[in-house]
Amino acid sequence: MEPSSRGPASFLTQANALLRKNLTFQKRNLKTNIGIIGFPVFICVVLVILQNVLNDQLGKAKYRCGCVCIDTNGDGNCETVCGLQYSTPDQVNSCPIPSPPKWPALLQVPRLASRAVRSGFVSSTDLPDASCKDSKSCPATVLFTGRNQTLAESLAGNLFKSTSSSMNFSDYLNLLSSVVPGSDTPTRDTQFIEPAFVSDRPLYVLQPQCTANFTRSVSFEISNRTLELEVECVQGLSLWRDSSSAVNDELFKGYRQENTKRKTNEYIAAYDILNSDENGFNLNIWYNSTYNNDTGYVPIALLRVPRSMNAASNAYLRFLRGMGVMMRLEYVKDMPKSGTDNRFDISSLLGALFFTWIVNLLLPVILNYLVYEKQQKLKIIMKMHGLKDGPYWVISYAYFFSLSAVYMICFVIFGSVIGLKFFTLNDYSIQFVFYAIYVNLQIVTAFLMAAFFSSVKTATVIGHIYVFASGLLGQFLLRFFMEDSSFPRGWIIVMEIVPGFSLYRGLYEFAQYAFMGDNMGTSGMRWKDLSDSQNGMRNVLIIMTVEWLVLLPAAYYLDQVASSGGIRRGPLFFLQYFQKKPSASFRKPSLKREESKVFVEMERPDVSQEREVVEQLLLEQSTSYAIISDNIKKVYPRRDGNPEKFAVRGLSLAVPHGECFGMLGPNGAGKTSFINMMTGLTTPTSGTAYVRGLDIRIDMDEIYTSMGVCPQHDLLWETLTGREHLLFYGRLKNLKGAALMQAVEESLKSVNLFYGGVGDKQAGKYSGGMKRRLSVAIALIGDPKVVYMDEPSTGLDPASRKNLWNVVKHAKRNRAIILTTHSMEEAEYLCDRLGVFVDGSLQCIGNPKELKARYGGSYVFTMTTSSNEEEEVESLVRQLSPSANRIYHISGTQKFEVPKHEVRIADVFRAVEIAKKKFTIHAWGLADTTLEDVFIKVAKGAQSFNLLS
Ligand SMILES: *[C@@H]1O[C@H](CO)[C@@H](O)[C@H](O)[C@H]1NC(C)=O
Ligand SMILES: *[C@@H]1O[C@H](CO)[C@@H](O)[C@H](O)[C@H]1NC(C)=O
Ligand SMILES: *[C@@H]1O[C@H](CO)[C@@H](O)[C@H](O)[C@H]1NC(C)=O
Ligand SMILES: *[C@@H]1O[C@H](CO)[C@@H](O)[C@H](O)[C@H]1NC(C)=O
Repeated sequence: MEPSSRGPASFLTQANALLRKNLTFQKRNLKTNIGIIGFPVFICVVLVILQNVLNDQLGKAKYRCGCVCIDTNGDGNCETVCGLQYSTPDQVNSCPIPSPPKWPALLQVPRLASRAVRSGFVSSTDLPDASCKDSKSCPATVLFTGRNQTLAESLAGNLFKSTSSSMNFSDYLNLLSSVVPGSDTPTRDTQFIEPAFVSDRPLYVLQPQCTANFTRSVSFEISNRTLELEVECVQGLSLWRDSSSAVNDELFKGYRQENTKRKTNEYIAAYDILNSDENGFNLNIWYNSTYNNDTGYVPIALLRVPRSMNAASNAYLRFLRGMGVMMRLEYVKDMPKSGTDNRFDISSLLGALFFTWIVNLLLPVILNYLVYEKQQKLKIIMKMHGLKDGPYWVISYAYFFSLSAVYMICFVIFGSVIGLKFFTLNDYSIQFVFYAIYVNLQIVTAFLMAAFFSSVKTATVIGHIYVFASGLLGQFLLRFFMEDSSFPRGWIIVMEIVPGFSLYRGLYEFAQYAFMGDNMGTSGMRWKDLSDSQNGMRNVLIIMTVEWLVLLPAAYYLDQVASSGGIRRGPLFFLQYFQKKPSASFRKPSLKREESKVFVEMERPDVSQEREVVEQLLLEQSTSYAIISDNIKKVYPRRDGNPEKFAVRGLSLAVPHGECFGMLGPNGAGKTSFINMMTGLTTPTSGTAYVRGLDIRIDMDEIYTSMGVCPQHDLLWETLTGREHLLFYGRLKNLKGAALMQAVEESLKSVNLFYGGVGDKQAGKYSGGMKRRLSVAIALIGDPKVVYMDEPSTGLDPASRKNLWNVVKHAKRNRAIILTTHSMEEAEYLCDRLGVFVDGSLQCIGNPKELKARYGGSYVFTMTTSSNEEEEVESLVRQLSPSANRIYHISGTQKFEVPKHEVRIADVFRAVEIAKKKFTIHAWGLADTTLEDVFIKVAKGAQSFNLLS
């Protein structure tokens, strides 16, 4: 690749690269995406099914206005007639009722078993004896109190009136308004039909005394409907109590108590006539509001109040004017109503909860994606190849926004198409604005949350918990508070700051308007409804917009400060834009260097020579070297009781252009720590390094544009192909058009991923070796000037390794490469210079030949004999070289280190020939020192030195 004059990639180029990568990624994730889009579809379908089941139920005859078929004109063909008179109380709701029936007002009479009698817990002695229950003759009791006992007792005596036993029910309203009728049927929430007249319970007539044979069956007509009733007499008993508190007490004690075997002592009603006298009637009535089957808010038993009121008024009139006077309460009657469908829109009822889940579900998806790139260190590796934060944010944001938009549009369209009232009734423009704002807020929330997670698993779990909890808490807590008008509105607004709650609130308002609109046959929410004080939508829109504006910079800021990859910036990093940037060239060697002198004294000459070169370069402010590391250190602070760890102890190194520098060293020696600092993954504890004259503490962003990295672990997108990886990184390095295509082809060919279409397979399906080769190709694409390779050839088969080496060898011509490896062969083949790194510091440095000469200087003599001839072998070696050293010995095989200056190879051969005659030699050999021997020697030496110190 000819050196080009490409500058760093522009914003648009980077954005383009990232966008293309994301789109490909999305294309590969088609299944997951269909799953995501499928969820709202699934929920909507469930709602539709529920709605249909419900409509089916409500449409059944049981709930439809009752109808009969009547042959009206006698021609044998019947005609369907519907109406109240053919309906049960369940059906009445859907009937049109142009002229509601008139119902006589009734008293609520306690059932026989619960009527008040004398018993252990009520001290009153004037109540009837409990034995009346056996004879079924218990009276129903009314209690009286007031200021004037004489007056009260006189009213009590007038309350019930004897009736002649011949009652003519053809004029039932007249008849029943002249007596005191009652019933023990519980009331229900319809007055169109008085349940007492359609139940199988008898109708009672309350009288001071019951005569025998009063009971009879009567039939009479109400609104064209023939009713059959038993009529029975119940004795009415009026008792005086001294005070209203005594009455209260007695009523309270009579009330059915849970968990006790006690019988209830129930009363019809109680009256307090207060200060009434001849000139005025003043009355308090106790009535039993719990005497009904329904658990509505309205005390339906008020239905039973008119008759008790009328009875008391009549008693007063009789007291004033004598028994002949009467105030008639003929009937009570509802207002007419039109017929209604039984309708019940499930989507509005369950919508707020279900749709909160649906809309929120995108949050874990976005979070997952963001944290995945962070956890897999993909974000930082993209950064290392020159991707700036700006394009990353803009593209990610735009990308998530379009994802959300598609999702929401599918959701709304689908919901509307299948006819959910929730969508069709409310103004679409309000829905559009609401969802658009929320989706933005949600993306920002995800960015914000992503800053706190480093593991995809945790993020996914927490994300889903958030989704489900915000829905449930919204449904059961927020809604409860909203519907409680005494709850301070301010606190609701505070709760709505949680995005999940503001979403719930908005959806709840949509649901309410849709539900009402559906029931009333009107429309749902319109823009003008936003000014309605009950409507929380306006607040929600304001809260969400403000929150979005505040959180957007906050999320960006947090991402910069807390991102776990990349240089951690201080919390006040933004101040640096206001300061004068320190000049990007070298600073004067600081005083700090002085203290390290002590350490320098113990260094080997080659290492201190390198240090001097570095100092010289720094003084000259030379930029001719690609990498200059100036006494760089990394100390990991003590943690969990482990002491401080010195990963790198003051490394000075200068690597010119065109050199490949190999770092050797045992595991844990600090090679990777060094590379991490150089690539900006961690910051140095002290010291610094300059890459082409740019300081890694300050100008990392600029350094990234001309840097390539092959990390120790392959950082790849499982679903992208090798070619797509290279295209992406190539674009980041500002390669375009034909040049890009050519670079990618060449790159694939060079790492042997081109043939057989391997380059077009997804990286997740690659073998370890293929991933490695791809990583190397990525590191080299776009002609970076500085390349770091952390063990590039691990896990490669020999052929691929050789191939890879050729690539690297070819690549190093015009760039500096720092390479770590465990393979001596590789180091020898590729590197111009080597450094052996042990326990955080450089032990020796030089080119492979020098090192071998310096640390080698001996042959290794190996001989295998039977084990009882070992001593003879040893004496043979001693004869050749007195200072030979046995380094290895096992059952007849021995290895000796023989100093080169003491022996000549010809002597060795001769000695062996002679020895062959004395004893059998199975095998023998003489070898020059290898780099491996040097490495082991240096590493051993350093370690024993460290143990001593
Ligand atoms: C109580 O009422 C009776 C009957 O109306 C009346 O004669 C009497 O004076 C009243 N007593 C008091 C203390 O007002
Ligand atoms: C009942 O009253 C109606 C008129 O109101 C009358 O025609 C009918 O004869 C009466 N029946 C009896 C049994 O008195
Ligand atoms: C009121 O009605 C309830 C329900 O029927 C009953 O349990 C209770 O005992 C009644 N209370 C009185 C004081 O009659
Ligand atoms: C109302 O309550 C009575 C008993 O108090 C019961 O027999 C009846 O079935 C109930 N009706 C309804 C509709 O629940």
